[in-house]
Amino acid sequence: MDLILVNLLSDNLINVQIMLKSMKVILYAAQTVNGIIARENYDEDFLSHKNWEVFAELAEDTGCFIAGRKTYEEVKKWKDDNFDSLKARKIIVSRSKTPKLAAGYISARSPKDALHHASELGFTNVLLAGGGTLNSAFMKAGLVDEIIINIEPYVLGKGIRIFSEETFENKLRLMNVKKVNGIIQLQYKVEK
Ligand SMILES: NC(=O)c1ccc[n+]([C@@H]2O[C@H](COP(=O)([O-])OP(=O)(O)OC[C@H]3O[C@@H](n4cnc5c(N)ncnc54)[C@H](OP(=O)(O)O)[C@@H]3O)[C@@H](O)[C@H]2O)c1
Repeated sequence: MDLILVNLLSDNLINVQIMLKSMKVILYAAQTVNGIIARENYDEDFLSHKNWEVFAELAEDTGCFIAGRKTYEEVKKWKDDNFDSLKARKIIVSRSKTPKLAAGYISARSPKDALHHASELGFTNVLLAGGGTLNSAFMKAGLVDEIIINIEPYVLGKGIRIFSEETFENKLRLMNVKKVNGIIQLQYKVEK
């Protein structure tokens, strides 16, 4: 490799590292007391509508959210609430080069690629909207700065967990506790 190419590559790497450092990623999830965000068949019927309202407000305030391809496919089936109506930029993560996305959605190939797109759009804060597989991918890559969890008064023995099984661990610092109707909202900072 010639010296100019090496310099260009290391400049790019530095730019990516600066971008990742200046980007704040807030993970939001609504779950049962035991950490389930959807049934095994992907339904979220046990969650009250307030959770969607909280998500919609956070997404529009932040202006940009990121979701996994599976979550995108599931939410698309909902009759009353869906991602389409939200006034925010929507980034869907899939390993596929050509995911089938409706107009107005941006596709990304990895968590870092999603943040790169958000940064190019001028965002420094983004909301990570799940599901459990993508949440874990972001956690594993050390990309989550804050976690907001709405705890629904419900237990469910089986289902999709807020974090799919992966190897990562982080200490959290409790920043806020709020009661929203019957829901307890916890806000944490991820210590890195
Ligand atoms: N209650 C809540 O707060 C909440 C929030 C969000 C979602 N949900 C629910 O969670 C369920 C879906 O969760 P899930 O865990 O099955 O799926 P998911 O995380 O929404 O999506 C998984 C897909 O995202 C892509 N992906 C994940 N990690 C990736 C990586 N590192 N690089 C590239 N692409 C990656 C892959 O897409 P490809 O297969 O296309 O490559 C993967 O199959 C749905 O039922 C949804 O309704 C609930």
